[in-house]
Amino acid sequence: MNVRIFDTTLRDGEQTPGVSLTPDEKLRIALKLDELGVDVIEAGSAITSPGEREGIKKVVSEGLSKEICSFTRALQVDIDAALDCGVDSIHLVVPTSDLHLEHKLSKTREEVKQMALESTQYAIDHGLLVELSAEDSTRSDMSFLKEIFTEGIQTGAQRICACDTVGMLTPEKSQEFYGQLSDLGAPLSVHCHNDFGLAVANSLSGLKAGASQAHVTVNGIGERAGNASLEELVVALHSLYEVDTNVDISMLYDVSKTVARITGVYLQPNKAIVGENAFAHESGIHADGVMKKAETYEPITPELVGHKRRFVMGKHVGSHIIKQKIKEMGFRVDEGQFNQIFQRIKSLGDMGKCVTDVDLQAIADDVMGIMAEKPVELEELTIVSGNKVIPTASVKLKIDNIEKLEAGVGVGPVDAAIVAIKKSTADVVDIELEEYHVDAITGGPDALIDVVVRLRHGEQVVTARSTQPDIINASVEAYLSGINKILIDKRMKISKNELND
Ligand code: KIV
Ligand code: ZN
Repeated sequence: MNVRIFDTTLRDGEQTPGVSLTPDEKLRIALKLDELGVDVIEAGSAITSPGEREGIKKVVSEGLSKEICSFTRALQVDIDAALDCGVDSIHLVVPTSDLHLEHKLSKTREEVKQMALESTQYAIDHGLLVELSAEDSTRSDMSFLKEIFTEGIQTGAQRICACDTVGMLTPEKSQEFYGQLSDLGAPLSVHCHNDFGLAVANSLSGLKAGASQAHVTVNGIGERAGNASLEELVVALHSLYEVDTNVDISMLYDVSKTVARITGVYLQPNKAIVGENAFAHESGIHADGVMKKAETYEPITPELVGHKRRFVMGKHVGSHIIKQKIKEMGFRVDEGQFNQIFQRIKSLGDMGKCVTDVDLQAIADDVMGIMAEKPVELEELTIVSGNKVIPTASVKLKIDNIEKLEAGVGVGPVDAAIVAIKKSTADVVDIELEEYHVDAITGGPDALIDVVVRLRHGEQVVTARSTQPDIINASVEAYLSGINKILIDKRMKISKNELND
């Protein structure tokens, strides 16, 4: 069996409070979805606005191989707007529960059915493929639901979809519910919302009961608690049910990050499959197990979904991981020195801190009595920011004792400073800021600000921190510490290789 994936990130996902996509942003996401291999891209709802139509048209004009769909109500204006955008199909939605009919539409079941059938006919006559969808179907009368779907299929609807609009199903109810709709004569879609955190489980049950297509969004974004998450559903199908989709699973982490960046909806770290902690190990017992055999504490490999394994140095860290990190830094420590380093990491953990790579380097340098090397030093930093100017930064750095002056602009002062530093150091190292995290660790306007950054240089990932009263200084210091760590490691590797030659 092969389950089809109907992606609604650009329609239901865009209904996430606070999310509004420009036409170009829609296009960027659609291109990723196409590459990912979803079967249908619901690009939006054409009637919504001129900008929405522009976005859908941009997606259509790419000539992608995937089906491009627009949401419509059972109204001719909506279908005309979809036709104007040139989509392949429409997701034609009517509410079916008495609750919605009475309180929202003030229409009878018969009236709504007629609207659905007439709209289906109109769309079919104009060459569109129709997926007829019932909103709030899980609180609808089953005989009415069957009637509207059956007559819709007779009119020409090629697929049907039953929406669990407010996430009221349970896995057991879902199996029973979708089971009753799976043999009406057209492929059936599950569309589950996550109000009780059950959207993926309910979708899986619906698929087991005979549905053949799942509506999902990247990262599970959507109204309220969101929709069934694409990555969770697809990987569960693949790894737990041995059921295939056309999705290229190895792209999931990348697609998730792209959507998070564009929508501004960032993930909780413990989000399954694509969260930053999905393959991170903190406790000594787990890290030790994973280092010996990854399956001990990983149900799938991070590589399967394009993610990376990470070992985090927190309160529960074990000696194995610290020994390995110290070795990677090129230090040879005796037992006494190692114990000192280990104890200092543990006490930082007791103080509620996670130790970054730069912290570990500093502790190890200190214990070994080594003067910390700083290939890049900050000489001057000037920031111009306000409500009427483009945030601009100029930095004077000393890179290997040579002064370098650069300027940068950004969305805010921190961004501008990072842009300027990135420009200044571009000749010596190519850095990508992967993660930036800020915490106010004391209360009030004079709070101490703790900034932790994660930087990538090729395959190498380094974490660094700075705690200061000023967020810009803290950000710059953390960023520069990370760069210095990467440069030191890089140079150490080069000199090691030279020694070996
Ligand atoms: O959840 C829902 O009911 C929907 C429909 C409007 C299609 O998204
Ligand atoms: Zn929905």
